[in-house]
Amino acid sequence: MSVAQLGYLGFEVSDLPAWEDFATSVLGLKVSQRDTGGGFRLQMDSHSYRILITPGTADDLAVVGWEIESDTALSECLERLKKAGVEVNEATAQERADRGVAALFKLRDPAGAPTELYTGPTLSSEAFTSPLLLSKFVAEEQGLGHLVLTANSQDESVQFYSDLLGFKLSDYIRCDLYGYAVDIAFMHANSRHHSVAFGAKQPKGLHHFMLEVASLDDVGLCYDRCLKSGVRIMQTLGRHPNDRMFSFYAKTPSGFQFELGYGGRQVDDATWEVTTHPCVSEWGHHHPQIFAPRKK
Ligand code: FE2
Repeated sequence: MSVAQLGYLGFEVSDLPAWEDFATSVLGLKVSQRDTGGGFRLQMDSHSYRILITPGTADDLAVVGWEIESDTALSECLERLKKAGVEVNEATAQERADRGVAALFKLRDPAGAPTELYTGPTLSSEAFTSPLLLSKFVAEEQGLGHLVLTANSQDESVQFYSDLLGFKLSDYIRCDLYGYAVDIAFMHANSRHHSVAFGAKQPKGLHHFMLEVASLDDVGLCYDRCLKSGVRIMQTLGRHPNDRMFSFYAKTPSGFQFELGYGGRQVDDATWEVTTHPCVSEWGHHHPQIFAPRKK
């Protein structure tokens, strides 16, 4: 393995105040740093930040940071990328300092996602606490969560992330969902069931990112906070068959979705077998508007 965890995500957003309110008052994250230009960083565990919010018009994914397990693994990973003809650029000292990491290299994945490989993140001197959470975020060595990236070709992306970055395939979900052919490949870098997944081409660079909490009630409380603050629910509470995540989906202020979940399955590579699941969800995860109101 080379990638140890999903280290950070960057989003370029057009409405900074909306994002700050959403991140702190709905998700329960903490602003740990303010950057020049109005951007800010969000903390969820012992890392000094996990999400970078930068101002701009894209309202999309700006960067995905993958932490590499060691300097040796990073060298091996860079060698594989070079042999495969992938253009990789070493970051400047200023860029490294801005990210707060020891080593930093930049590239694009097969679908163009701005990707960074790094070692040596900065940990916070202040412990993370959230006044909104009964429990805590499940992060640390499992990474900040997961994301579903856009893909030009699922096979091409799976091959890139497995052969060059060291991910392992977890499973597939292949089914028909309300007339749409769903075909998603899930990949893991550590014991989290998946850190990244690829389906079809998405309108934005990502379909959603997921944060996990350590209590079922924290999922319900966040669902309530979404309803109360007008955050649009995109998929109701439900459970996925592969990672067994109990979760819901809603829209961020940038239009792409987030998933908040509890109880994700852990993968043990010694016994794990890749399977294909015939449904996206065992129950739930419905779009709220597919059900017509019951007539009196
Ligand atoms: Fe997800």
